[in-house]
Amino acid sequence: MNDIELIRRTIRTVSDWPEPGVQFRDITPLLQDPRTFRVLIDQFVHRYFDARPDAIAGLDARGFIIGSVLAYELNVGFVPIRKKGKLPFTTVAESYELEYGSATVEMHTDAVKAGDRVLLIDDLIATGGTMMAGKRLLEKLGATVIEGAAIVDLPELGGSDRLRASGLALFTLVDFG
Ligand code: PRP
Ligand code: HPA
Repeated sequence: MNDIELIRRTIRTVSDWPEPGVQFRDITPLLQDPRTFRVLIDQFVHRYFDARPDAIAGLDARGFIIGSVLAYELNVGFVPIRKKGKLPFTTVAESYELEYGSATVEMHTDAVKAGDRVLLIDDLIATGGTMMAGKRLLEKLGATVIEGAAIVDLPELGGSDRLRASGLALFTLVDFG
C-alpha cells in the first residue's frame, strides 16, 4: 500500500456526527499510530522542505497538531490562528459564514511581518470558510500565503474550488466525495 492510501484508510468515517446526514472524517486514528503519523508529517515535510516558508500558521484546533510538528521539522516558527477570544495580546480578526450564523478567527498582530511567506495549514477543507479567513488575516498583516495545505479535501462542498478561485494554491493529500 502506498503512503497516500495508508493515510486514506487510516482516516475514520463517523456517520451522523455531529448531526444526522454528516459523514465526519476523523483524523485521530492517523495521529494515534506512530507510523502513520510519521508518514503523514513526512508528506508535508517533503512538499515544503525546499520552499521553506518563514512561518507556518495553523488553524484552530486540528491545524495546530500537524502545523506545529511540521514547523519543528522545518525549523521555522509556528503561529496559531485561534477562534475568537482566546489570544491575550492585540489581535486582528476575520469573520466568516457558517451554515447557521458566523464565526471569527484571530491572530496576534505581531505573529507575522509584512513580506513573510507563510504556509497555512489545517486538517480538512469543507466549505473553505476557515482557510479563507486565515488567508485574509495573514494578508491583512502584509504576509503572503505561499500555499494552503490540508490532509483532507471534501470537494463536493466547493471549498477547495472557492479557495483556488481566490488565488490560493492548495495542497491536499486525500479527497472524500
Ligand atoms: C473543522 C476543520 C476545519 C474546518 C473546515 O474545524 O478542522 O478547521 O472545520 O471547515 P470549513 O472548510 O467549512 O471552514 P472546526 O471548526 O470543527 O474546529 P475544531 O478543529 O476546533 O474542531
Ligand atoms: N471532518 C472533520 N472536520 C470537519 C468535517 C469532517 O468531515 N466537516 C467539516 N469539518
